[in-house]
Amino acid sequence: MKIGFVGAAYLAQAYSKHLLRSGHSVVFSNRRGPESLANLMSAFGTQASAASVEAAAEADVVVLALPWTQLRSLQQRNIDWSGRIVVDATNALLSYAPDFRRADLGGRTSSEIVADMLPGARIVKTLNTLYYKVLERDPAEAGGRRVMFLSGDDEKAKKVVSAILSSTGFCPVDLGGLAEGGRIQQFGAPLAGPNLLAL
Ligand SMILES: NC(=O)c1ccc[n+]([C@@H]2O[C@H](COP(=O)([O-])OP(=O)(O)OC[C@H]3O[C@@H](n4cnc5c(N)ncnc54)[C@H](OP(=O)(O)O)[C@@H]3O)[C@@H](O)[C@H]2O)c1
Repeated sequence: MKIGFVGAAYLAQAYSKHLLRSGHSVVFSNRRGPESLANLMSAFGTQASAASVEAAAEADVVVLALPWTQLRSLQQRNIDWSGRIVVDATNALLSYAPDFRRADLGGRTSSEIVADMLPGARIVKTLNTLYYKVLERDPAEAGGRRVMFLSGDDEKAKKVVSAILSSTGFCPVDLGGLAEGGRIQQFGAPLAGPNLLAL
């Protein structure tokens, strides 16, 4: 499949290595535009390309891999999100290390808020729970497969994303919908962070 990334930094690069190794193609996009990704393209090979955010959003599955604080900028773009499978890999943080200041979500889950921002998108929350240095490691370890949690309200979209996770060597574990699953896998929750293997 073709996977588009909005954001081309640590998270996007870490998971793209698995996608490319598993025969998928990837389209990276960022804020500064495709020319700024030339060095990355030479490192990632012919199945990787750089494009505008709008073009990356045309891929079979789109991964949100940009800062939480930048998500609203997507609403200014000329993108029709309806029907698109969108992986929300973001963590709702206002700042990163060392203070990791969390956004006020008003009691909702971060992915429910993302779903409201991108009307019609079929949101699947995943890829957010592991530090990128763990994510980029071979998911086959100690005779098991690294667990990747996911949640979402669209069962078909979750199946597609689960199949992609499996194809890249991870063990997908479905936590339910965005409200209940999202709550236990988003930043600060019990399932955000643990590096688990399914044996
Ligand atoms: N790093 C991790 O270990 C990790 C783990 C789990 C989840 N996450 C989450 O994954 C997301 C990505 O994290 P990250 O550490 O890879 O990088 P990041 O520092 O959060 O994001 C940087 C990337 O986002 C792009 N970007 C910024 N604003 C944008 C905009 N308005 N439109 C399009 N692209 C934009 C940047 O492009 P430019 O360079 O052009 O500005 C750059 O490619 C975050 O939400 C983070 O919380 C990260």
